[in-house]
Amino acid sequence: MLESKSSEVQHYVGSLRYDRRLYRHDIAGSMAHARMLGGQGIIPDDDAQRIIQGLEAIRGEIERGEFIFDPADEDIHMAVETRLFTLIGDIAGRLHTGRSRNDQIALDVRMYLRDEMGQIDSALTDLRRALVELAERNRDAILAGYTHLQQAQPVLFAHHVLAYFEMFGRDAERLADCLKRVNVLPLGSGALAGVPYPIDRDAVARELGFDRVSANSMDAVADRDFVAEFNACGAILMMHISRLAEELVLWSSTEFGFVRMGEGYTTGSSIMPQKRNPDIAELARAKTGRAYGNLIAILTILKSLPLSYNRDLQEDKEPLFDTVDTVKETLRICAEMLRTVEVNAPRMRGAMRDYVLATDVADYLVGKGVPFRSAHGVSAELSRYAADHGKSLSELTLDEYRRFSGMFEDDILNLSMERSVGARNVAGGTNPDRVSSALRVARNILDAEGRSESPTG
Ligand code: ARG
Repeated sequence: MLESKSSEVQHYVGSLRYDRRLYRHDIAGSMAHARMLGGQGIIPDDDAQRIIQGLEAIRGEIERGEFIFDPADEDIHMAVETRLFTLIGDIAGRLHTGRSRNDQIALDVRMYLRDEMGQIDSALTDLRRALVELAERNRDAILAGYTHLQQAQPVLFAHHVLAYFEMFGRDAERLADCLKRVNVLPLGSGALAGVPYPIDRDAVARELGFDRVSANSMDAVADRDFVAEFNACGAILMMHISRLAEELVLWSSTEFGFVRMGEGYTTGSSIMPQKRNPDIAELARAKTGRAYGNLIAILTILKSLPLSYNRDLQEDKEPLFDTVDTVKETLRICAEMLRTVEVNAPRMRGAMRDYVLATDVADYLVGKGVPFRSAHGVSAELSRYAADHGKSLSELTLDEYRRFSGMFEDDILNLSMERSVGARNVAGGTNPDRVSSALRVARNILDAEGRSESPTG
């Protein structure tokens, strides 16, 4: 009874089953710490070397799948340290000089997140590339732009797609900004007050690639703002994914029929053979819920927590890991899915009722000197008239137009989707030349990001 209770408690307090994913960073941090301790003469250099060799051996064991994770070890730090004792004996006990698990875990999580953010950034760039490719493959397609999910004005499909390029670009900026606050070295803060040894924090920061060292030891062991901030970035990014996914679901429905996703991204129904369910887009849309939940979890864990380290902080990991996994996986899958999207341009165009040109009728009158509000009124009456007579705006005769305003001349009969789109020739507008240059700008941004990602760049 007592036995089973104690293993239940062990399970309750233990984090090894999920924090083992930090092993590479835990070991790299320990190696840098040992090297610094040796270099500063805080421990004998030979001992530092033996510790580093032992850690290297442990890393190899874990990587080859030979390492036995024993649940008796509470977390990844204990698991590695226990094994180090077995491998090199009592010298292992020198590694933890001038360090606490409190600054150690803060270090591990920051290093882990920094690496993952690099991968997420690449995946995000690739998703943005897939959006640009989709826009470029369908440069001429025109569809109704919607407001209130009502057809509003014609726009280029490429313009619609590039709206997502902007959203995901801001997500990349947000992550880059967050990284500045992630990439700070907490090691050297000890349990909370700093350490009584002549450590060299700058040397450790340099070896581990940190931009700077933390300025306050209590803050450094207590701070998980960076986790909350990353989770907020992830939540916003997933919100953008959900909007894109929702449009794909809508557009691939029978009613819209604007797009078709590749076979690998839809599933058939066992009883309704005609169906192609957009499961992947639906799941991407739904996984946003996880990211929101994880953000609320970490904010709640941190709320009202007194300084400095509290065990509560161990609960930061699963929400963080889940958002990392969800975002990374979703970005990769969505990019590949977008590459399979086939657009049915005639269908998009055919779905547009030409009342989407009602604004152009008003703009036409403005061009003839009519104040916009009156012009809008005329256009509204005309549209109502056309609807009542079962006609589209382009089927009305000049006589019919002139019944509503004497300002109409025969050039009103030239109204078209192309002209409407072409007329929006302002920065940020859907005019084809503007969209072409937006595509060029997007390409340049992606090329520049590709270059800065390469190791030589
Ligand atoms: N597993 C712990 C965590 O994730 C490591 C730090 C434990 N520190 C302590 N004083 N118990 O936060």
